[in-house]
Amino acid sequence: MSANIVIGTQWGDEGKGKIIDLLASRADVVVRAQGGNNAGHTVASGSETYKLHLIPSGILYKDTLCLIGAGVVMDPKDILGEISELSKRGLSFDNLKIDPRAHIIMPWHIALDGLSEKFRGNKDIGTTHRGIGPTYMDKYERSGLRFFDLVNPEIFREKARSAGELKNAIITKVFGGEALDLDAVIEEYTEYGRQLKKYMADVSVLTYEANKAGKTILFEGAQATLLDIDFGTYPYVTSSHPLSAGVCTGTGVGPLMIDAVYGVAKAYTTRVGKGPFPTELFDETGDYIRDKGHEFGTITGRPRRTGWFDSVIVRHAVRVNGLSALCINKLDTLAGLDTLKVCVAYKKPDGTIIRDFPPTLEGLEGCEPVYEEHPGFKDDISGVRRFEDLPAVCREYISRLEELCECSIKMVGVGPERTQIIER
Ligand code: GDP
Ligand code: IMO
Ligand code: MG
Repeated sequence: MSANIVIGTQWGDEGKGKIIDLLASRADVVVRAQGGNNAGHTVASGSETYKLHLIPSGILYKDTLCLIGAGVVMDPKDILGEISELSKRGLSFDNLKIDPRAHIIMPWHIALDGLSEKFRGNKDIGTTHRGIGPTYMDKYERSGLRFFDLVNPEIFREKARSAGELKNAIITKVFGGEALDLDAVIEEYTEYGRQLKKYMADVSVLTYEANKAGKTILFEGAQATLLDIDFGTYPYVTSSHPLSAGVCTGTGVGPLMIDAVYGVAKAYTTRVGKGPFPTELFDETGDYIRDKGHEFGTITGRPRRTGWFDSVIVRHAVRVNGLSALCINKLDTLAGLDTLKVCVAYKKPDGTIIRDFPPTLEGLEGCEPVYEEHPGFKDDISGVRRFEDLPAVCREYISRLEELCECSIKMVGVGPERTQIIER
């Protein structure tokens, strides 16, 4: 019996899906607590590859309870599409439950996400255009629609109409966009509610009871620490709390339930969307990593920006999440490079060296990464399963990351398959 969290430590896409899928084989319950279908979690199993948006990565195990908590924002159309696609591939959704408190992404949220991004011009955030920010805005403004509302047609009609009328006024009068046909939207979404109603259940209660009954629970983080609304590179962040703490509020459980928090990082760094990225590479090494690591967005297909491992940001993640251990994925991708650089600190424009990630963009401006260099390796390590069988330079690289991040590294990923993991 245990309750563990898996969380991203960089700017997302660290390979959380793979780790969750692996750990889910030993879990009874998998819970998503925040974010929405801006997430894209890849799970590779044999010849099959799944790219999950909102469905918890435990879905590959038919007896695992898959829960979507109150802190998630759900696009009903998207999740029904996901269920339908995955059902065709033989997966069962009998064990899927969605909290009635989860907020609903409506078409006006998606429209406003696009319009606000356009309005920002070259100061855009580079969102996934999935309506995430506008839906969380309404939640915190206390005017959102929740899953409970969606599955109750009368309540839904009334709330959706009054919300939709205001949004249409904003879309047309502020942004000069095209009004949505509210009758059509209400009809369409009422039908989605009818189809989704069977999944509604109190996820807080289910998780609490499962824990009391001695079940093993796994909380699946989406996005990552540097995309956190408070502790990320604001405003170039998402609108939720992808931290370990977000799991408690997003599920409705207390922090003392949690036994361990695992942070996932890549052996280098990537980012999609805009915002600061101190170790970003603009040269052929960056291209090499992007090509070899297939670094293209799971959801949007955008090329991911690539750079060296930054221990300043991962140490920040160790602190704000209280990490128990780290998993470093994609070490195999670095094979073939002559030298590996690791950022150990930042040098401010006045020459001061800092080791803690600055709280503001202004504090980060002009900061140059201070690198140390490590010898590269040529070997194909994708078949290695024991730490001691890795080339000495790889072992030294991992040990050094451990030291710099002040956190033990318990897993090393050497390929996309769930079996391509070295557990220490
Ligand atoms: P997530 O959002 O954190 O779940 O990560 P994504 O699925 O968006 O992106 C991670 C990508 O890296 C996926 O294509 C995975 O299949 C792949 N991946 C994960 N771990 C490894 C690894 O150790 N080596 C390699 N080569 N690929 C990996
Ligand atoms: P997973 O769970 C990487 C980024 C977007 C954009 C910013 C805000 O797969 O790691 P949003 O649509 O959330 O308002 O966009 O956050 N972003 C992600 N980047 N992985 C993700 O999820 C992301 N989810 C959001 O690219 O920069
Ligand atoms: Mg992803």
